[in-house]
Amino acid sequence: MNTGNNDNKRHWENIYETKGEKELSWFQPYPDTSVEFLGLFKLPLTAHIIDIGGGDSHLVDVLLDKGYQNVWVLDISANAIERVKKRLGERAGKVHWIVSDITEFEPPVQFDFWHDRAAFHFLTSEEKINKYVSIAENAIKQNGYLVLGTFSEQGPRKCSGLEIKQYSETSMSARFEVAFKRIKCTETAHPTPFGTIQNFLFCAFQKK
Ligand SMILES: C[S@@+](CC[C@H](N)C(=O)[O-])C[C@H]1O[C@@H](n2cnc3c(N)ncnc32)[C@H](O)[C@@H]1O
Repeated sequence: MNTGNNDNKRHWENIYETKGEKELSWFQPYPDTSVEFLGLFKLPLTAHIIDIGGGDSHLVDVLLDKGYQNVWVLDISANAIERVKKRLGERAGKVHWIVSDITEFEPPVQFDFWHDRAAFHFLTSEEKINKYVSIAENAIKQNGYLVLGTFSEQGPRKCSGLEIKQYSETSMSARFEVAFKRIKCTETAHPTPFGTIQNFLFCAFQKK
């Protein structure tokens, strides 16, 4: 088990220990944008799909409902993963769970679809961003898909009290263009449980 930067891990363990899902700004009862992208890819039910920084997102529930058989969820917080396992009950046994800092992840398989909503944008140093990009490049199969959701340049500057890096279509594509071709990007307005709006940018890429 990789735990990575201890302060960062402690921050996220504390969040998932002390706050309910509706107290989290990123909470979505249904991950509609992510599911729309999934629909574009027409993946077989045997596809290996990983949600990076999945937290207690309901994307895993949707993937299981749709019948996907090789679903993975990675998060730095063991508390987050325990929460989703509890929610899923018996169905949790069908999922591969990984507690790790993404920048220290050593993927045991290659993935057909790598999804990340609001985890990549917490990486603010060149070193960590480059590590993430290199891990994703190696972990995604040829012709496999990558979907990244981050705050856009119209979005907040912080998330969960931490500095984040905002992206535009151009700046996100520039990070991944060596190994991926861009399929499409879309901006979305996420309504938080507190009645505010957060502007996200989602881009889909395909591994060359
Ligand atoms: C803003 S939340 C988004 C959660 C989920 N993706 C969603 O859309 O509901 C960010 C998530 O990324 C996780 N995270 C933050 N930094 C991470 C890192 N370096 N490695 C792995 N997970 C990380 C946090 O624990 C948290 O669950």
